[in-house]
Amino acid sequence: MTERKQDTVTIIDNSTGREMTLPVVTPVHGPRAFDIRGLYREMGLLSYDPGFMSTASCRSSITFIDGNQGILLYRGYPVEVLAEKSTYLEVAYLLLYGELPTAEELESFKDRIVHHSMIHESVKTFFSGFHHDAHPMAILVGVVGSLSAFYHDSADPHDPVERDLTAHRLIGKIITIAGASYKHSIGEPFVYPNNALSYCGNLLNMLFSVPAEPYQVDPVAERALDMLFILHADHEQNASTSTVRLAGSSDANPYAAVTAGIASLWGPAHGGANEKVLNMLEEIGDESNIQKFIDRAKDRNDPFRLMGFGHRVYKTHDPRAKIIREMCHEVLEKLGHAGDPLFDLALRLEEIALRDEYFLERNLYPNVDFYSGLIYRALGIPTQMFTVMFAIARTVGWLAHWLEMMSEPEHRISRPRQVYVGAERREYVPLEARR
Ligand code: ACO
Repeated sequence: MTERKQDTVTIIDNSTGREMTLPVVTPVHGPRAFDIRGLYREMGLLSYDPGFMSTASCRSSITFIDGNQGILLYRGYPVEVLAEKSTYLEVAYLLLYGELPTAEELESFKDRIVHHSMIHESVKTFFSGFHHDAHPMAILVGVVGSLSAFYHDSADPHDPVERDLTAHRLIGKIITIAGASYKHSIGEPFVYPNNALSYCGNLLNMLFSVPAEPYQVDPVAERALDMLFILHADHEQNASTSTVRLAGSSDANPYAAVTAGIASLWGPAHGGANEKVLNMLEEIGDESNIQKFIDRAKDRNDPFRLMGFGHRVYKTHDPRAKIIREMCHEVLEKLGHAGDPLFDLALRLEEIALRDEYFLERNLYPNVDFYSGLIYRALGIPTQMFTVMFAIARTVGWLAHWLEMMSEPEHRISRPRQVYVGAERREYVPLEARR
């Protein structure tokens, strides 16, 4: 990243009259940021920004988003170009290492990923500890976390070779763990990975094949999944990625740090939204009920929100949602699901919401999750697995950010401050004297 440090911002504390001039960091793209690292030391002041509305937590060269224009770049490449021309593993290499791989580099990268796709036989036994109706995200949190117990001797976050090994292991194993989570939930035997298949072909095979009969990976499903994974691979400092960075900043075991990211992704305000969108569409059920749900979403006294709508950064169409919407038409058509009533309902809901003042005034547009669930459904993936699919794709993003953070010379433990609003110092009252 090339930066010019030339501008400054002056802060004046009106209560003390003290002032301080702060340097401004000018990024390649996006808003300038003033560097407040010396603020507390010099002025005794903290900045207050719950939800990080105006705070850049780090410098990063991986992904750029322009939320007003609907632009998303991975290492400088527009996501729509990558989705059309590239493959998920190629994009994974790009995110991790900064450049598109040569044919030779890609082959060797694929080889490393597939050779890490098997899980230790002992890991398999963990699955049987989960109840059959456990949410697959709960299983994913548990099992990915357990990997920290298997590779503690080769997961030194300060060793670049072990960092790479960790990244390759996690990308390779996450599909196997996801497949096993699903098989456990439906009571079918686990399917081992097959190195002859592509990354997404392998995942489909582990989800849908059974030992009793041959299974052929559908190339339409394989490509659709690959594209969805490209679109979900990274999104700069979102909640789960920031969680991985925060957890990893203490030099924590990287498998544990990624597990923290999975837990954060699970929330319905983040990656859990794709599952909630489908549940919501099913609950709406019919076009005649749409207005009732829109009215509920607008009612301040009702916690209901239109799932798959709105985004912290995008104040226009999410560029990923645009691609997924088109893809949805194509995939449903090719896989023989044209006329899926939920897809028609989603289109109608989008149309009605985008004409409504409430959504227009607040810049609430469909996000990536509004349509992704419909594609997953057409691929035969059950609703509960949607967020797991997102977690698979985002594993690369989490790792790219963790690698970037750990190789940064300025890297320090992340430790936000707070504005304390609790009780003042008080005297302890013995139990017998309390009223
Ligand atoms: N339905 C109805 N109203 C909404 C919605 C929605 N989906 N999203 C935001 N609003 C309203 C809020 O009530 C608020 O209204 P107000 O100004 O009258 O109080 C205003 O729009 C701003 O919303 P905030 O919650 O302040 O926006 P924030 O940036 O904090 O939240 C979020 C973004 C969490 C994505 C939110 O839009 C939401 O909950 N959406 C639904 C869940 C969802 O789809 N999440 C997936 C996000 S994309 C991803 O993670 C891949």
